[in-house]
Amino acid sequence: MAKVRRQFPRPRDLAPLLKFKSPDLNAKRRRLNKALTIYDLRDIAARRTPRAAFDYTEGAAEAEISLARARQAFEDIEFHPAILRDVSHVDPSCTILGGQSALPFGIAPTGFTRMMHTEGEWAGAGAAHRAGIPFSLSTMGTTSIEDVAATNPGGRNWFQLYMWKDRDRSMALVERAAAAGFDTLLVTVDVPVAGARLRDKRNGMSIPPSLTPGTILNAIPRPEWWINFLTTEPLAFASLDRWSGTVGELLDTMFDPTVTFEDLVWIRKQWPGKVVVKGVQTVEDSKRVVDTGVDGLILSNHGGRQLDRAPIPFHLLPDVVKAVGKKTEIVVDTGIMSGSDIVACIALGAKFTLIGRAYLYGLMAGGEAGVDRAIDILREQIVRTMRLLGVTSLGELTPDHVTQLSRFTRLTPR
Ligand SMILES: Cc1cc2nc3c(=O)[nH]c(=O)nc-3n(C[C@H](O)[C@H](O)[C@H](O)COP(=O)(O)O)c2cc1C
Repeated sequence: MAKVRRQFPRPRDLAPLLKFKSPDLNAKRRRLNKALTIYDLRDIAARRTPRAAFDYTEGAAEAEISLARARQAFEDIEFHPAILRDVSHVDPSCTILGGQSALPFGIAPTGFTRMMHTEGEWAGAGAAHRAGIPFSLSTMGTTSIEDVAATNPGGRNWFQLYMWKDRDRSMALVERAAAAGFDTLLVTVDVPVAGARLRDKRNGMSIPPSLTPGTILNAIPRPEWWINFLTTEPLAFASLDRWSGTVGELLDTMFDPTVTFEDLVWIRKQWPGKVVVKGVQTVEDSKRVVDTGVDGLILSNHGGRQLDRAPIPFHLLPDVVKAVGKKTEIVVDTGIMSGSDIVACIALGAKFTLIGRAYLYGLMAGGEAGVDRAIDILREQIVRTMRLLGVTSLGELTPDHVTQLSRFTRLTPR
């Protein structure tokens, strides 16, 4: 019977097994390269960002059920791969709203971004520029329209509009965005009042953050954020006045709750580029939005930050595609944490997606390099998922590639 024979390891056998690499002396790069998923970036972000800023970003409204369900909906899918296809070359680029994007996602508008990290919108716009994807600047942004345009020159910048009670001021911003070459206006319509962001209330969050015994204690293990905060341009809204309450309270004083579909028709006439309505949450409203003559709609519940237990945008997608998919371009956001979530949206008929927290976790984990890392992670995941599904372009994805598994069944008919 043959037996295992032992021998002394010889140096020439050991040599190829030794994999000592010269250490990377750049601590930030080392940290970011260890992150393999957006959730890994989130964990780094939590360690490096003061509690109030992290919670403002991570948190959602009320019991945060909308956000949890939206993420769960992406987990509850089944992919159906096609085998034996030549997937040596994969192209994840697409066209959206009359222009190109190197990837099927863009950066969503987020308010008060320099609070997450001092590089804020510069980091987002710079990373979008390098990746060849659109960047959206919020009305509540902390970097000016002109600075964003300069950071993403020749790239695609989108401006997000909150319609304020003071219309002249809102439209003055819109004119500035048009003059700076922004090509698309996102009109956010899911904020007639601010959602109840309870974490902000519990943290006593103010803008800018104030120094209290609690915040000082919380700052001790997070020195870099505080050094950045205290030694760079003061944190303030680029388009608004100073405010000493929570973002929710600010929204309530400014947002015009009388805005209706007629106003969309009016806004459409004011803007030379594309107009997209952000925050559509029913099939009925998707039809009404299309009837106003805008160019696209974003199925979104604001990342769960407005109405808690709102419909899951990803679940709405098939019905909305059926109702208006031939007449308009449909974008999806809320809950996207991986490239395969994005692939699933495209397979079910979305033209494009937006990422909010996925990019902000990268920003908080490492400024501009962190946003680059978040985009790289998503790109790798998209390309790998496409290959594993047996497709070489986004156009080849169809609803046959994805099943949405049901966790909740509707008991009441709609
Ligand atoms: C910290 C934060 C701030 C946001 N600020 C805005 C905003 O100013 N305007 C807006 O239209 N949406 C805003 N959103 C919503 C995003 O544009 C987007 O709809 C949402 O983040 C998508 O969900 P996700 O974070 O799960 O990707 C914000 C989201 C976050 C997380």
